[in-house]
This record gives sequence, structure tokens and C-alpha cells, in this order.
Amino acid sequence: MDSDKTIIIGSDHAAFELKEKIKDYLFQKGYVVEDAGTDSQESVNYVDYGKKVAGAVADGKFKKGILLCGSGLGMSMVANRFKGVRAALCSDVFSAKMSRLHNDSNIIVLGGRIVGDILAFELVDTWLCTPFEGGRHQDRISSIDA
Ligand code: RB5
Repeated sequence: MDSDKTIIIGSDHAAFELKEKIKDYLFQKGYVVEDAGTDSQESVNYVDYGKKVAGAVADGKFKKGILLCGSGLGMSMVANRFKGVRAALCSDVFSAKMSRLHNDSNIIVLGGRIVGDILAFELVDTWLCTPFEGGRHQDRISSIDA
């Protein structure tokens, strides 16, 4: 399987429903989606799921990941602690696009209590289909980890 068509996803309870909908959406588009949980709307700690997804991206097991929690804030904070992870919290299409073009974001974070289903699909689509521009932006993102 083309590694560009595989992705890892995780959420807490607050965004469980949206995670399931995004999984279905990506399956229909031919993606293989690894679900790191959670598996229900029972209250959990978002940190556990953020660590699973961000860890898998940081380790190179997956090139890209999707994280969701209620606001997206907690998941962003967790994911960006991992070296090599560039997690972008997006609720507008311009940011989703720019996070790929200029920042080479490798995790998109969505707030399940902020974005609706259709916007979430559009954000994910835009993010997955937009390439990194490289060039001067490569030097800039390299200096994040340096
Ligand atoms: C859960 O209530 C909520 O705090 C969580 O989903 C997230 O928004 C944290 O940042």
C-alpha cells in the first residue's frame, strides 16, 4: 500500500463521533486508516490518544496523522511536544492549506466541538492534497528541531 494512502487517527470522547465520520470518509477515498482510539463516548484523557498518534508519526511509522478533541487545543499541545511533529490546529481551509505549503504539517488537529462534519472533511481533504513547497520553508522548519 502506498504510504501516502495510510494515515493514523485518534481522538478523545469529545470528538469520537467526528473521528468515526472522518474514518468513513477516508475509507471511501481509498485510505487505510489506523485507529488509535478512543472507541466510545466514555470520558477519557485526550493525552493518551495524542501520545499514540504523535508518537507513531515521530517514530516514522506513519507519515501523517489526524487528531481530534473537543477544542483541538489539548491535542495540539500534546502532539507538538514530540520532536519532528508539526501539528496544525485548523478550523479554516486557508490554514489547512498553508500548514502544508509552508509548515509541512504532519498532523492536522480538529476541534470536534468547533467544526461541523462537512467543514472537517474539506479541511482533511485540503490538508491531504496540498504538497509542501520546500525551499526556504525547509530551512525554517529544520530550525524548529535544531
Ligand atoms: C474534554 O472535555 C475536552 O477538555 C477535550 O476534548 C479537549 O478539548 C481538550 O483540550
